[in-house]
Parts: sequence; structure tokens; C-alpha cells
Amino acid sequence: MKAVVVYESVFGNTAQVAEAIAVGIGEEAVAVSTAEVEPDELSDVDLVVAGGPVFAFQLSSDQMRASIGNKPAPGAPPANLSHPSMRTWLDGVNTATGLCAAFDTQVRGPFGSGAPAIAKALQARGLRLIASPEGFIVDGKYGPLRAGELERAQEWGAQLRRLADAERAQDQP
Ligand SMILES: Cc1cc2nc3c(=O)[nH]c(=O)nc-3n(C[C@H](O)[C@H](O)[C@H](O)COP(=O)(O)O)c2cc1C
Repeated sequence: MKAVVVYESVFGNTAQVAEAIAVGIGEEAVAVSTAEVEPDELSDVDLVVAGGPVFAFQLSSDQMRASIGNKPAPGAPPANLSHPSMRTWLDGVNTATGLCAAFDTQVRGPFGSGAPAIAKALQARGLRLIASPEGFIVDGKYGPLRAGELERAQEWGAQLRRLADAERAQDQP
């Protein structure tokens, strides 16, 4: 099963979660940034898992990234804006037939989410959602990830693997 875990990560938290999810899915899975996988080249991918950070109550946007880049808050860690936003990447996804799942990283509380928007965009392109959108928690505005979240991400990856295997077994004639 070919699996790709694609992420946007400005401060590194989502990238870490993506790596852990890929480990959980297994050997054939890779974690890559939005710059490293073309969104219109997913036709041979069996499982696409996509994730990004929540900024200003929603999935990161180009406007928010520009603001983070142009006006860094005092004491903020360096922002990595070298790869496209998840929104931009999703805009380039062609119609596809594979399986999908979505995640985000966020502070815990009523401060919005991003994973449901990712799931909706992938489903709109024809991909089949195999799990509820999932959020992974950071402890501060810039991270770090809360203790135990990387382990939870790896276990979520393993669960996605089981769900994808079951879906694919059902698809066999
Ligand atoms: C400018 C800024 C705005 C943020 N806004 C939110 C928010 O509205 N809701 C939330 O849950 N987390 C918010 N966060 C926390 C980020 O979602 C969290 O740090 C995320 O893990 C960043 O992902 P990254 O390290 O992969 O870029 C914000 C962080 C920053 C720096």
C-alpha cells in the first residue's frame, strides 16, 4: 500500500506529527512537506493523509502566513514558509480515487480546527475518508507538542493502516 503523509508546518510541530503518523502506518509510508509531493500526482497513492496547523481559529491561510512572516511576534521562533500552505496544496489536487484522512495541530480549547476543512477538500476531489479528522495538541502558541501526542499520532497512523487494509480488502472482487 502506497501511503503519503503530506504536511504544512511553519514551526515544526505538524511535521513531527506527520513523521510519527508515517511510522505508525508502516514502511511504505513517507512524510513529506507540501513542496515535496505534487498535488496532481496522487493517482498511484492508495492513502493520502494530510495535515496542517490551526492559525487564527482555522486552517492556516496564505494571509496568515504572510502576517507571521512579515510581522514576527517578539520572541517567536523562526517561521518556515519554504513550502506552500495546505490550502494551496489542496487547491491543486486532481480528482482521485484513493483513501484519505486529515489531521491538524492546535492548542486545546474552543480555538478552531483545520482538519475538517482538509477532509472536506479531499473528499470533494473523490478521495474516500476512512477516519474522523483528528487534532494533535501543542502546549504553547508555538509548541512544543503535548507529552504523549507523538505516541498518539503513531497509534493513529497504525489505526489508519488497519482501516485502509480493511477498505482495500472489501474493494477486491
Ligand atoms: C500566530 C498563531 C496563531 C495561532 N492561532 C491558533 C488558533 O486560533 N487556534 C489554535 O488551536 N491554535 C493556534 N495556534 C497554535 C498553532 O496551531 C500550533 O502552534 C501549531 O502546532 C503550529 O503548527 P506548526 O508548528 O506545524 O506550524 C496559533 C499559533 C500561532 C503562532
